[in-house]
Amino acid sequence: MRCNGSSEERLPAIKLVALGGTIAGKGADPTRPTQYEPGVLGVDSLIAAVPEIGKLARVSGVQLANMPSYAMTEADWLRLASVVNGLLSDSDCDGVVVAQGTDTLEETAYFLHLTVKSEKPVVLVGAMRPATAMSADGPLNLYNAVALAASRAAYGQGVLLVMNDRIGSARDTVKTNTTAVDAFRAPELGCLGYMTDGQPFLYYASTRLHTSRTEFDTAGLTALPRVEILYGYGGSGRDLADAAVQAGARGIVHAGMGNGGMAPAMREGLADARRQGVAVVSASHAGSGLVTAKEADLRDGFAASGNLPPRKARILLMLALTVTNRPEEIQRMFDLY
Ligand code: SIN
Repeated sequence: MRCNGSSEERLPAIKLVALGGTIAGKGADPTRPTQYEPGVLGVDSLIAAVPEIGKLARVSGVQLANMPSYAMTEADWLRLASVVNGLLSDSDCDGVVVAQGTDTLEETAYFLHLTVKSEKPVVLVGAMRPATAMSADGPLNLYNAVALAASRAAYGQGVLLVMNDRIGSARDTVKTNTTAVDAFRAPELGCLGYMTDGQPFLYYASTRLHTSRTEFDTAGLTALPRVEILYGYGGSGRDLADAAVQAGARGIVHAGMGNGGMAPAMREGLADARRQGVAVVSASHAGSGLVTAKEADLRDGFAASGNLPPRKARILLMLALTVTNRPEEIQRMFDLY
């Protein structure tokens, strides 16, 4: 999108919100890309390292944090959503790029996908190799993210991710590899399109509701309801379900086996949790496919995650609990978003 200025064509105004991560990481040895400290370089260094983005957009930086993304908390997501919503409400902001670590990129992306109240482009980006590594992937990823955020194509698509020339939906994209530059994938559903030579080529759109069309309003919130994830395995007992309730959890996502399979003792613990008012969502750690609502789950008052993996199901459950803790309402939201 290019806007007409009073006397000359203006480039789109893009805000780069930097939170740290590997894209801002530094190491001593370019040949050892796993030995580095994430979240060292500031946002101005990120922009200066890719002078070509100046031809795509008027880019200015906001340094919101400089940390590894595995240290981010719900409070950081709330603050980020508030900052992004504030930036997008300014008529002189055409889109936002958020640069952060990749470990929780998929969580931040889905949180923003459900809480940003704007149709303007929001693009998340990171890097698998630090800025000092041989063949660092951050500069091209950042260039592509700015190009996408400055494009008409990204308008109204919800929050998008750009990594390794692929455009993904915030809802479906997850990190699938510990170190490879093509780590980000949407299992089975695939990417929405590609970035090639700085141009977006979009082929699909997510049909699930997002951004302005969700019922979630996080303005003014400083905390989210506590939701824990319990990993399912054969022979699991119920102790961790009981511990979660004792610790004050208002929701539990069970990362179950296959189609949400639960060890019998764990099911008893979760059913007791539900009886005490704790919301329970049945998800799967299988990595792809649906978790369907089964009779036993309906009887016990559990919602089914559909194809949302556990960490994204946790994001949706935290937001759902800001509205309701009724199982049928929570299931409605999992069917909608
Ligand atoms: C992090 O998530 O901050 C570390 C890993 C990365 O950025 O790729």
